[in-house]
Amino acid sequence: MTDNSPSIIDAAKYRQVLGHFPTGVVVVTAMTEAGPAGMAIGSFASLSLDPAQVLYCPAKTSSSWAKLRTSPQFCVNVLAEDQEDICRVFASRAEDKFAEIGWKRSPNGSPLIAGVLAHIDCTISSILDGGDHDIVIGDVTDLEVAHEGAPLIFYRGGYGRVTL
Ligand SMILES: Cc1cc2nc3c(=O)[nH]c(=O)nc-3n(C[C@H](O)[C@H](O)[C@H](O)COP(=O)(O)O)c2cc1C
Repeated sequence: MTDNSPSIIDAAKYRQVLGHFPTGVVVVTAMTEAGPAGMAIGSFASLSLDPAQVLYCPAKTSSSWAKLRTSPQFCVNVLAEDQEDICRVFASRAEDKFAEIGWKRSPNGSPLIAGVLAHIDCTISSILDGGDHDIVIGDVTDLEVAHEGAPLIFYRGGYGRVTL
């Protein structure tokens, strides 16, 4: 399909069908010159082991991504099942998403949110074109599991939990 051709896929149907694919939820954070920035992300994935790389896909129109990309470093915060409220804050357009959130600096200086299951510190390796989203590839510089809890799950527009 060329850039000028209209999409043959209905947007509501795209969302409905893709909503049947469950994802975990991460909050991607970075420390910028204007302070901490972050956004909730479902499009996170492991990419490569050697070199160690991960990826996520922010909307090109996202104001949070505009802030995040001003820092070469970012941190992926993997949300636990009891962190739905934190997810909602970071999916909002709140001016200061960190006002009510406990956090400290991760090893690369990015905000590390209290209570997350794990964190993955990265340096941006490349930013690729992905239609109305960008594809951000990060080189992993540090990663750690904080506790062995259950993850928050996003599925069909709602939040759920896994039972093993
Ligand atoms: C579970 C969940 C997953 C999300 N995943 C993504 C994503 O992968 N990419 C994205 O651009 N926005 C995603 N969002 C939306 C953003 O978190 C958020 O709504 C958006 O950043 C707010 O707009 P702003 O960035 O312009 O402030 C997700 C939201 C939720 C609740």
